[in-house]
Amino acid sequence: MLLLMCSLSLAQNAVIGEIAPDFTLQDSNDDPTTLSSFYNIGPIVVFFYPNDATKICHKEILAFRNLTDELEKYNTTIIGISSNSVAEHNDTVVNNDIKYKLLTDFDNKVRKQWKVPRSLLFFPGRVTYILDKEGVVRYIHKDLLDGPGHADFALTAVKLIAKE
Ligand SMILES: *[C@@H]1O[C@H](CO)[C@@H](O)[C@H](O)[C@H]1NC(C)=O
Ligand SMILES: *[C@@H]1O[C@H](CO)[C@@H](O)[C@H](O)[C@H]1NC(C)=O
Ligand SMILES: *[C@@H]1O[C@H](CO)[C@@H](O)[C@H](O)[C@H]1NC(C)=O
Repeated sequence: MLLLMCSLSLAQNAVIGEIAPDFTLQDSNDDPTTLSSFYNIGPIVVFFYPNDATKICHKEILAFRNLTDELEKYNTTIIGISSNSVAEHNDTVVNNDIKYKLLTDFDNKVRKQWKVPRSLLFFPGRVTYILDKEGVVRYIHKDLLDGPGHADFALTAVKLIAKE
């Protein structure tokens, strides 16, 4: 019984081979956005990053922008998540011509729910999850310092999923 309870509680965070926990967060237009509404379209890339304003995050956001068309060939949904406000995300989206969603996880609720690993013990981690179209976590990429590497990793993973 105890073991069963442990495995049930483990399944609530984001682990490879399990459906990622669903969530609803506000996008940069202040509209609620629910992860499961993107099921059955194509792979879903969810990237958690610390803050719109830091240099590495900014590069990561632009790298995903640069690969948006390529990822869309595989019907991929791209979702970036940080604790920035709706207004801050709106500025980022408007000023950089971002076509994908940036969501506001203001109190880090989803970051905690997914148990996104921290970087160097105390920084909010820069972690990208690639889900298949059923919402199952298939690949996880952690790298604090190389922002653009996350977009490259995501494209590679999406291509692997497409080949299955
Ligand atoms: C986003 O920014 C644009 C341009 O500055 C502004 O017109 C719009 O009201 C903003 N939307 C939100 C939800 O903040
Ligand atoms: C995105 O593309 C622009 C224009 O081609 C390029 O100047 C920039 O270095 C690219 N940025 C990243 C992070 O890949
Ligand atoms: C993308 O979705 C369209 C419309 O459902 C479908 O026709 C197409 O085959 C899909 N492409 C890929 C690569 O899955």
